[in-house]
Amino acid sequence: MNQAPEAILLVGGKGTRLRPLTVRTPKPMVPAAGVPFLTHQLARARAAGVEHIVLATSYLAEVFEPYFGDGSALGLHIEYVTEREPLGTGGAIRNVASRLRSGPDDPVLVFNGDILTGLDIPALVDTHRSCDADVSLHLTRVDDPRAFGLVPTDDTGRVTAFLEKPQTPEEIVTDQINAGAYVFRRSVIDTIPAGRPVSVERETFPGLLDDGAHLQGMVDSTYWLDLGTPHAFVRGSADLVLGRAPSPAVPGRRGDRLVLPTARVAPGAKLTGGTVVAEGAVVAEDARIDGSAVLAGAVVEAGAVISGSLVGEGARIGARTVLSGVVVGDGAVVGEDNELRDGARVWCDAVLPAGSVRFSSDQ
Ligand code: GDD
Ligand code: MG
Repeated sequence: MNQAPEAILLVGGKGTRLRPLTVRTPKPMVPAAGVPFLTHQLARARAAGVEHIVLATSYLAEVFEPYFGDGSALGLHIEYVTEREPLGTGGAIRNVASRLRSGPDDPVLVFNGDILTGLDIPALVDTHRSCDADVSLHLTRVDDPRAFGLVPTDDTGRVTAFLEKPQTPEEIVTDQINAGAYVFRRSVIDTIPAGRPVSVERETFPGLLDDGAHLQGMVDSTYWLDLGTPHAFVRGSADLVLGRAPSPAVPGRRGDRLVLPTARVAPGAKLTGGTVVAEGAVVAEDARIDGSAVLAGAVVEAGAVISGSLVGEGARIGARTVLSGVVVGDGAVVGEDNELRDGARVWCDAVLPAGSVRFSSDQ
């Protein structure tokens, strides 16, 4: 039987590092390339043959089901399980076990809900089956592994340790990190303690290794990005539009720009670098927008210059204002002739009067 396994998607995190984008919207529902980010993950799982998906929700849990319903629009059967208190990654996996249909030895896919990747999902499942592993993990190499789970392996790919968010230089023993996609033997999920918070990274994986379980790593060098920070989120959205990151769910042709049907872009505006302009948004004459996301109903006035930034739903960017590497929360107003750069975050509904912030002289 080579039917694709069922899958669990972990979508309950608070998305703190993405604020203010995640003040009103859970991270997986923030739009990337014109649709809630989660749509890309669901569509990729479906394309790999997955049919049954359980969403493990917690923070702002109520918004998922009204949008995705039973999943049939995506050819999926989606179920939702909400934690009363956040149970952590391992607790969330255990908490949905009653919804799984797999037998004890069957493989179950588990995905972090904020990863954009070209992972060959069937290849991970094949690795898992051919190694007869207890858990198989997608691994990727990064320059700075400190924000991730470090996963050294032996020369057969078997995992030798799991070090979540290493604190000291001595702990940085590899550049291979946990890429946030796993295949679990179903019976292993049932051994995670129920009813209390459990971190799969800090408790379950190290514990399994101590007990001599077989954890198998599959390293690959396909596209991979954790969309946990504003900078990464904007990058991921642009890469989807440009076609660098694969997804069957981008609503339009790949290219320099994606303008959704009800958006209005003036003929003299320039959109480049994978910029998306969402439903009902307006971009005025001579605005230049590069590698950015303008969410639904936002307005960019004439001559504004925006790069590597995200403009939230219904936000307004005044004429000639410059944004570079900035997040503007939903409903915020940045008046004309402002200049914001390098990680600035404008909170939802904030109002910045005209000409109030610059990063350079006005010469
Ligand atoms: N249901 C539920 N409940 N989901 C949760 C909870 C919870 O209590 N806590 C976190 N999640 C979800 C998040 O929504 C996210 O999809 C996923 O679990 C991982 O949480 P993050 O908060 O994004 O973790 P991270 O990025 O710091 O680290 C994780 O991902 C890295 C790869 O991007 C770890 O798995 C690292 O080991 C890994 O390298
Ligand atoms: Mg993350």
